[in-house]
Amino acid sequence: MNFCAVILAAGHGKRMNSLKPKVIHEVMGKPIIQYTIKALKELKPEKMVIVVGNGAEEVKKQITEKSVSFVTQAKLLGTGNALLEAARSLKCIKDRTTLVLTGDSPLITSKTLKGFLKKHKQNKNALSLLSFIDESLYGYGRILRNKKGHIIGIVEDKHATVDEKRQNKELNSSIYAIEPDIMRYLGKLKKHRSSGEYYLTDIISFASKNGKKVEAYKCPPEEGLGINTRAELRQAIEILNKRNISKWMKKGVTFINPSISIVHHSVTIGKDTIVYPNTHLEGNTSIGRNCIIYPGVRIYDSILEDRVLIKDNTLIENSKIRSDSIIGPFAHLRPHSNVGRNVKIGNFVEIKKSSIGDGTKVSHLSYLGDAVVGKNVNIGAGTITCNYDGQKKYTTTIKSGVFIGSDSQIIAPVEIGRGAYIAAGATVTKNVPAGALAISRVGQKNIKDWGIQKQLKVKGKKLKVKNRKK
Ligand code: UD1
Ligand code: MG
Repeated sequence: MNFCAVILAAGHGKRMNSLKPKVIHEVMGKPIIQYTIKALKELKPEKMVIVVGNGAEEVKKQITEKSVSFVTQAKLLGTGNALLEAARSLKCIKDRTTLVLTGDSPLITSKTLKGFLKKHKQNKNALSLLSFIDESLYGYGRILRNKKGHIIGIVEDKHATVDEKRQNKELNSSIYAIEPDIMRYLGKLKKHRSSGEYYLTDIISFASKNGKKVEAYKCPPEEGLGINTRAELRQAIEILNKRNISKWMKKGVTFINPSISIVHHSVTIGKDTIVYPNTHLEGNTSIGRNCIIYPGVRIYDSILEDRVLIKDNTLIENSKIRSDSIIGPFAHLRPHSNVGRNVKIGNFVEIKKSSIGDGTKVSHLSYLGDAVVGKNVNIGAGTITCNYDGQKKYTTTIKSGVFIGSDSQIIAPVEIGRGAYIAAGATVTKNVPAGALAISRVGQKNIKDWGIQKQLKVKGKKLKVKNRKK
């Protein structure tokens, strides 16, 4: 289909009450406007233009799509003025159908847009618009029809009379298909005195009064929703998340309570994986088959192979976990952690930028940072790799088969050789040869009767030594 597309994204977004431009607020890990761009791109427009104004540079920075070009609206004088600015600088608007969308409506699907454009062309309309019925919403433009049902204009909610609101439940989604001869009405729009803006919606009445063919096509209400407030932002997140989770459920993933899990669109999940409530799966994360993600887990930009178990309240950041491993509860994998197969990372363990070999166990209360740990290593409770001297980070190398006793501190840079043992409570400052035992404790001394004497002293008595056997 030959058409060009304009996305209006210059507005203030005042109702968001934010320092950030509205269209770059995040919905499930992506700026709002990215959703519109993605839906539109599937229709392959000849040209895709975004009108920017408020926070223009910030908005442009968030748009990675290469095929997009930008037009700046110098003064934010409303949606009518925004399209006029685009029309002034774009030839294609003058000789093609223009599909106009707003940057604050992320719920529209490419399927709906395709159908809409097709009907617009088939019915040879001069202007088409996408409408929807939703009695619970306010703040939208309401479509006005005459007795014959022909569209004669749009009245904005804030300017509508009680009767107009009661009689007109059909709302404007702000998605239009416009033929070139309608564009000339943009220059004739009148500024609304109360708002100081030129409304794009006013071209409907110009077109209708001039006998142009104007039609509206209905889309599902949940595609028409625009984001103007924080409440609408929440609603959009809920709808997009629900759509996404439903897709994964159809593909064989179990969600125990989908309404309180968040799954970003870039995440993939294998069959028969079970996702418990209150889990956030974000960014470029891929989860294998038959995994279990227990409540309170957040995973982003990470890869989990098959049959991985993530126990409650665990955070996994930009890391890789190979098959059959168990992580958590209350574990933290910080970026660039590489966990092998069949590994156990237990309660209150923090791993940072480390690789952990197959079959290794770090079961309790440990910190491994900048460590290279081999296979089948046992890291005792409370082990700490001391990787930082206040200036630089150093590597700890622990070869396969090593056993590290509890409460050991490994001062990096250091290497513990294959099959070596570290006695509990050690402070390891030197390399340990393969197969050796490193022990670094002060020898234990037991002071006879010390405890009894202390107790007696407290009570003001003395120990009767002669009655006691040696
Ligand atoms: C607009 C429509 C309303 C429709 C609703 C659907 C008008 C006058 N009203 O209202 O009929 O029901 O969308 O969501 O068009 N923008 C600019 N430059 C400006 C002003 C706005 O580019 O000077 C952009 C905004 O960034 C936004 C879009 O246009 O992406 C719509 O503006 P917004 O203020 O959200 O309009 P609504 O009040 O939602
Ligand atoms: Mg809006």
